[in-house]
Amino acid sequence: VGISYQVNASLTAAELNALRADHWPGVGPVPWDAMMPHSLCWITAHDGDTLVGFVNVAWDGDIHAFILDTIVATAYRRQSIGAGLVRRAAEEARRRGIEWLHVDFEDDLEPFYRACGFEPTKAGLLHL
Ligand SMILES: CC(C)(COP(=O)(O)OP(=O)(O)OC[C@H]1O[C@@H](n2cnc3c(N)ncnc32)[C@H](O)[C@@H]1OP(=O)(O)O)[C@@H](O)C(=O)NCCC(=O)NCCS
Repeated sequence: VGISYQVNASLTAAELNALRADHWPGVGPVPWDAMMPHSLCWITAHDGDTLVGFVNVAWDGDIHAFILDTIVATAYRRQSIGAGLVRRAAEEARRRGIEWLHVDFEDDLEPFYRACGFEPTKAGLLHL
């Protein structure tokens, strides 16, 4: 597939909502205006004019960044687009001086993030 990738592409919330609704039917709209001020960068994948993948990199303002909301449209999965998004997110974060890139995920996504090069670590999670 002729997929192109962009850093910080201008997106409409509607495009992103459509991509998310593809996987999480009934999911609420993206809180775009709240999310983006905390974003180091975001990477998108495009098939022509169609948005087919997205990942957001949130930032602590220093050397830590956090992968959030990795998603590839259902019809485009298992074509290395997800890995392509995460690899570019890591490259862009490194270029911007980030030293540690974090991600957390459910069990079924462990093989994906392992394939993207993430090593296991101990982490904590508190449901508020
Ligand atoms: C997770 C997701 C982004 C992966 O995107 P993708 O483009 O299909 O992934 P890739 O093709 O780049 O996969 C790279 C490798 O990761 C592993 N992998 C990917 N998806 C996998 C799955 N569902 N189960 C097991 N391994 C998987 C494989 O090793 C794969 O390589 P292979 O296809 O040569 O075997 C996609 O499945 C998705 O959008 N899921 C729903 C949203 C979601 O849950 N996001 C995570 C939020 S943390």
